Amino acid sequence: MIHTLEWTAAGVRFIDQRKLPIEETYVTATTPEQVADAIQTMVVRGAPAIGVAAAMGIALAAKNSKAESVADLKREIDHTAELIAQTRPTAVNLFWGLQRMKEKFEQLRIRPITQIKDALVEEAQRMHAEDIAANRAMGRHGATLMPSQGGVLTHCNAGALATAGYGTALGVIRAAVEQGKKIHVYADETRPFLQGARLTAWELMKDNVPTTVISDNMAGAMMRQGKIGAVVVGADRIAANGDVANKIGTYTVAVLAKEHGIPFYVAAPTSTVDLACPDGSQIPIEQRNIKEVTHIAGKQMVPDGVSIENPAFDVTPAEYVTAIITEWGIARAPYSESLAELIGKAQVEV
Ligand code: MRU
Repeated sequence: MIHTLEWTAAGVRFIDQRKLPIEETYVTATTPEQVADAIQTMVVRGAPAIGVAAAMGIALAAKNSKAESVADLKREIDHTAELIAQTRPTAVNLFWGLQRMKEKFEQLRIRPITQIKDALVEEAQRMHAEDIAANRAMGRHGATLMPSQGGVLTHCNAGALATAGYGTALGVIRAAVEQGKKIHVYADETRPFLQGARLTAWELMKDNVPTTVISDNMAGAMMRQGKIGAVVVGADRIAANGDVANKIGTYTVAVLAKEHGIPFYVAAPTSTVDLACPDGSQIPIEQRNIKEVTHIAGKQMVPDGVSIENPAFDVTPAEYVTAIITEWGIARAPYSESLAELIGKAQVEV
């Protein structure tokens, strides 16, 4: 079991994903500011994981608070939520996590402060457990779509490391393997941050799932050679019409998959679906430091002064998406109907 992040008596403990796979080290954030920093610097990354981290940041603010009135505690929680909201703009799970904690606080505000604090810590831990359960459910639904044998391509890391555990896209692959399907994973290395080469490969090797790492520009050739039977990726935000924001390069993979007649699946919890966002053009795309592109392992690779772009995500239009796998079932086009139906189902059952 990979412990991506967990609530401990000392604070929020993260595996430091910047160091993997070379070093398996852990850092403990003891203040909400340190949680915000861990999200921003990608100690913790992946949409569901940062949603849970954001909630734990609020829980930490409550736990550490010296406020003597509920109004003062609320001010501190709002301040922490604003701070964490500034860290990364694309994954809607981060804002979902903050919102859920704020709503919990509103439900609790008539109680004594100590009870509010304890209940907020419990809520963040519940979100951690729910995320793992959602991933297992997604795995059960999605495994039915996986080929009984052969290559499955994934991009970035949508595994245990990107969630509280088990993973979304890799959860689907794990569930298929647990059912006896003979899957060989092709993991795009995922320039520039190398989540595929460093993180997906690391966690699949730990689970003995046969894996081949390819550089991003090899995916088309692998498809043409008949090595890929399906593609499954995660998502950072899914708009109401089914457009999907995910790690930069996902769109390229989706276009290639369509050209080769290969199904392109997206696995994501309903906390990643943003019904308030009508289509992908409205999704904010994070622009990261250009050094991630210009430097590899601290060494400069491009000439000084050249123009560089580093968008961390792209948007895959819904027409390229064969199906969206959620914890509540599988959505297919037209997504404006199927996603709203699944979210409605989730709200009734919770
Ligand atoms: O920049 P990152 O590493 O946070 O980006 C992660 C991704 O794009 C993942 O594919 C996505 O968050 C889904 S994770 C289950």
